[in-house]
Amino acid sequence: MKKAASLSELGFDSDGASSGFFRAVADGVAACTPTAHRQRLTKVSVIGVGNVGMAIAQTILTRDLADEIALVDALPDKLRGEMLDLQHAAAFLPRTRLVSDTDMAVTKGSDLAIVTAGARQIPGETRLNLLQRNVSLFRKIIPALAEHSPEALLLIVSNPVDILTYVAWKLSGFPASRVIGSGTNLDSSRFRFLLAEHLDVNAQDVQAYMVGEHGDSSVAVWSSVSVAGMPALKTLQQSHSSFNEDALEGIRKAVVDSAYEVISLKGYTSWAIGYSVANLVATLLRDQRRIHPVSVLATGFHGIADDHEVFLSLPARLGRGGVLGVAEMELTEEEAKRLRRSAKTLWENCQLLGL
Ligand SMILES: NC(=O)c1ccc[n+]([C@@H]2O[C@H](COP(=O)([O-])OP(=O)(O)OC[C@H]3O[C@@H](n4cnc5c(N)ncnc54)[C@H](O)[C@@H]3O)[C@@H](O)[C@H]2O)c1
Repeated sequence: MKKAASLSELGFDSDGASSGFFRAVADGVAACTPTAHRQRLTKVSVIGVGNVGMAIAQTILTRDLADEIALVDALPDKLRGEMLDLQHAAAFLPRTRLVSDTDMAVTKGSDLAIVTAGARQIPGETRLNLLQRNVSLFRKIIPALAEHSPEALLLIVSNPVDILTYVAWKLSGFPASRVIGSGTNLDSSRFRFLLAEHLDVNAQDVQAYMVGEHGDSSVAVWSSVSVAGMPALKTLQQSHSSFNEDALEGIRKAVVDSAYEVISLKGYTSWAIGYSVANLVATLLRDQRRIHPVSVLATGFHGIADDHEVFLSLPARLGRGGVLGVAEMELTEEEAKRLRRSAKTLWENCQLLGL
């Protein structure tokens, strides 16, 4: 049986097919050509259709954030299977054109390209070796993306996300304002969830940031945690003597470890990163100017040396132009020290890549 994603693949010519159903209005103006129309559409590309890429694609679809989604992966069968599976939900979703190819040309004209492709860690492999393999992969992906969509925003999700965002910045030649890593947007959501559960409030009413590296050395900014605008740390410490320094570090560690727990239980994380990235996509493409902790070029912030080009997460104001500014948030000396330590480790790793 012939496999097909469309009737044209079954040999039915789609040119003029709709003219049997519809007729142009009689004002003498030629109908808008599909090409002219398409130029105004919002296009998002997702590179890598694994667990994370597909969770992102389906959340973008259900939230109606793009008119066209292009999917790219190195595995053609999986790629086509994922595209068909999403296309078959068309009757239940806003109309979104879905295209896929192993060739990066399918991403041409993207407004936003999201990179989730990544090599998996081989048992016993060092993080540095994994990083080198991912850099090789990015050498294939990023220049091609930049060539096909020179005006796009790049949103990097693959891990280690801070270093790979730096790699994407270097390989794309894009200005830093257009290269963003998903960073600690997800970690901050986990932090807010834990605090919200404890206080029995909605996580959306808890303002709490994790900054720095997405991963083990991330910094919980306790000094600025607030609930409904009320500074939270002092109140928590006054009401529970158990909120001492060790307890705060324990909560930070629980946030970091929660990713490992999900991975040990189901093998990977997907839903939360899917929502987290779709949230960023909404802010960027709809020019919402919301503040998100994401990985940005952090040189010069909080005492990070001016000659250290390093990407890590800080609360950033995002919009259609990408990173519109980084919040000059107040940190305690201890928080700033931890952030600089995180920056130094990331910078040293970036130096090993020789980019
Ligand atoms: N930043 C975050 O908060 C966060 C959260 C979760 C996962 N991640 C990261 O996201 C990445 C993806 O995770 P996953 O669970 O989806 O992995 P996965 O193995 O399920 O998917 C990776 C996909 O990339 C594809 N791929 C490999 N090389 C490619 C190439 N050259 N071109 C196109 N596609 C290629 C693979 O075929 C695969 O489908 C990992 O690096 C993971 O660590 C980041």
